[in-house]
Amino acid sequence: MKEPIRIAVTGGAGQIAYSLLFRLAAGELFHNQPIALHILEVPAVLSQLEGVKMELLDCAFPHLQEIVIGSDPHKVFEGVNFAYLVGAKPRGPGMERKDLLEANGRIFQGQGQALSDAAAKDVRVLVVGNPCNTNCLIAIHNAKNIAPQQFQAMTRLDENRAKAFLAVKAQCPVSSITNCTIWGNHSSTQVPDFLHTKIDGKLATEVIKDTTWLQTEFFKKVQGRGAEIIQARGKSSAASAASAAIDAMRSLITADSTTYSSAVYSANNSYGIDPNLVFSFPCKSVSKGNWEEVKGVEWDQFLETKIRASEKELIEERDLIKDLL
Ligand code: NAD
Ligand code: LMR
Repeated sequence: MKEPIRIAVTGGAGQIAYSLLFRLAAGELFHNQPIALHILEVPAVLSQLEGVKMELLDCAFPHLQEIVIGSDPHKVFEGVNFAYLVGAKPRGPGMERKDLLEANGRIFQGQGQALSDAAAKDVRVLVVGNPCNTNCLIAIHNAKNIAPQQFQAMTRLDENRAKAFLAVKAQCPVSSITNCTIWGNHSSTQVPDFLHTKIDGKLATEVIKDTTWLQTEFFKKVQGRGAEIIQARGKSSAASAASAAIDAMRSLITADSTTYSSAVYSANNSYGIDPNLVFSFPCKSVSKGNWEEVKGVEWDQFLETKIRASEKELIEERDLIKDLL
């Protein structure tokens, strides 16, 4: 039998995992290839995870070859090729994502170490648990055997949201929107770059001539969408987050030169951003699992001010967790 692709998902009994696991098991990321799911949870909810495992089995997914569950990251991460680090506390109404650092930061210290010890050498890691940029930085610093470039934090949901809002405004399909980069932190300081976005190949600013809308309503809508969903649902986004997590990993393994947003380790970046952050840049995949920053995007004064504010926030977050690095 062909060796399966091993995919770890943490927080397996939580909301996002309840969508993500089933989409992975159905083969949305790896078509017609055997996969093994390695699912991590805290001991207190392992019985709930047993229930999720039962449902995964009951779907009779033809390519789901193996399910490993447990609460010891060293065991669960054994030999994994991909890891979705989702398991972490979500924020509630009125909180900023960085308010979660104290509760969640330590999780990524232990999981970074465990991935470094146990995962396949070529593992690719996507951090979803918030505040995802700084949690990813913690994981990178604790994973001594894994190159920082093998880690990313998820700003793809923000990109998807930005595209969806622009498509409604321009009355076009979402697929018409390209080059829509999120810069900076997955937080309320994130920068949705409408200046370089294209709609059917034309600059978005030529199609949507209402600059005030782009700079104010659109901007705030993308920055505040997570909070808006929490307000409406009483819980944070889950199905859309899982969908973005699939998109993010698909982009990483698809070397077709499409630009996508991803928060990556900022060492050697060409934009003068502090080199020890996890910062969202325009990226493209150059070969399966290997990305490159898209260079030469020129900022105007508006973008520069916003991007620097997001960088400042990430430096402040880093200062709060410097003992975990
Ligand atoms: P949830 O509370 O429904 O589930 C989280 C699960 O993680 C729980 O079952 C919990 O037991 C588990 N967990 C906690 N600590 C763990 C650990 N050390 N190891 C393994 N599992 C652990 O939360 P959710 O709605 O699934 O959200 C998960 C995280 O994702 C939150 O931090 C949320 O803010 C974040 N999030 C990020 C994005 C993004 O775009 N980056 C989008 C949505 C949600
Ligand atoms: C989101 O953007 O929906 C998530 O990061 C959850 C949150 O806290 O907003």
